[in-house]
Amino acid sequence: MAFQKSPGTQDILPGAVEKWQYAEQKARDICRRYNYREIRTPIFESTELFKRGVGETTDIVEKEMYTFTDRGNRSITLRPEGTAGVVRSYVENKLYGEPDVTKLYYVGPMFRYERQQAGRYRQFHQFGIEALGSVDPALDAEVIALGYTFYTEVGLKGVRVEINSVGTPAVRAVFRERLLAFLEPKRELLCKDCQSRIDRNPLRVLDCKVDQQHFTDAPSILDSLDEECSTHFDKVKTYLSDMGIPFEINHRLVRGLDYYTHTAFEYKAEGIGAIDTIGGGGRYNGLVAEIGGPDQPGVGLGLGLERTIMLLEHQATELPALNEVDVYLVALGEASEREVTKLVYQLRQRGIRAERDYLGRKMKAQMKSADRLQAKFTAILGDDELARGEIALKDMAKGEQRQVALGKLADEILGSSDS
Ligand code: HAM
Repeated sequence: MAFQKSPGTQDILPGAVEKWQYAEQKARDICRRYNYREIRTPIFESTELFKRGVGETTDIVEKEMYTFTDRGNRSITLRPEGTAGVVRSYVENKLYGEPDVTKLYYVGPMFRYERQQAGRYRQFHQFGIEALGSVDPALDAEVIALGYTFYTEVGLKGVRVEINSVGTPAVRAVFRERLLAFLEPKRELLCKDCQSRIDRNPLRVLDCKVDQQHFTDAPSILDSLDEECSTHFDKVKTYLSDMGIPFEINHRLVRGLDYYTHTAFEYKAEGIGAIDTIGGGGRYNGLVAEIGGPDQPGVGLGLGLERTIMLLEHQATELPALNEVDVYLVALGEASEREVTKLVYQLRQRGIRAERDYLGRKMKAQMKSADRLQAKFTAILGDDELARGEIALKDMAKGEQRQVALGKLADEILGSSDS
């Protein structure tokens, strides 16, 4: 029996992987400009961390975690998201002791046992950032701007930013009562999920895709904000406007994780089946203390890389040439074969992306191979050239061919690519 990959996982093959590298490179480049530094935390953590961090009543913790008992009888969970692990590491390594705001980013796999659908995987990948140690709303705006910059710089069009304030736990407690008063009479009209959510997590009910028609008159959490929350939210909006980041306010936006306070936001775009959220995040001022650290605030985001790549494909975004070789060396005859083996090594030592034939093919087949690899140059070495210490270098775009001294081949190729 041949094996197949597990449901909800993907092989990212050459041809596709270059798009991933391109997006990841963009993420790293933007983080460098915004002064976020990479952190790599374990793929698995203790189950308790996610229960505490993400929240017991969230879908993630209730239904979606890959949890198992290891041989030492510990309950272990494959990380369903990145924030809890980063915050655990921040506390464990006492990064809060540093005088500056701690600005971190990560790129890597996350695991959720979710129902399969377009854009939803069981192993997926996030680019995420976390900024810890400041309550300044300018930091919320920076995080939102960074995510927006990522989408626009990879080349996506039509990405919308939606923001909301989910207040503080105290504000939410007041709003919860108002909301329950609104929802209770409608209980029977709502879907099964919402009926059970009303009791456990009524704010999430507003996020339901199927019941929206019942919520047109629902109270807005923005009307329940206290002064501190309103001021914070106003400043975030002002800073975003100053930066020219377009956004919409969505007072029903409630994220699927429990740790948010104040700002919550999502990036949305059409093109991935029923799914329109491609990234999200927010502020989490209680999380560090919740998992046993000092009372330090944080704000961050997580962007789904599968959804980014799917949208790049859906929008047929032109990406820079991702996989072309610089030069393809064609050997004709046994003596040239030996010379080409040395030459291709020397070119690679000089930083040139060089390839050659290993199948003993005739010239025509080798030239076809050069075409498939989109070689910028082909360099053809026959016995005559070899005897003269030269090689025929052909610029494939210009169609020009010239004889080049063997010892000058690398310089010629490098010189041409500079011009
Ligand atoms: P999240 O909204 O759960 O937030 O996930 C962020 C993004 O990860 C989603 O918008 C989506 O693009 C992607 N994603 C989530 N689940 C899947 C899936 N099953 N398949 C494919 N893509 C998926 C978080 O995870 C928070 N940790 C974000 C954050 C960081 N908040 C503060 N800091």
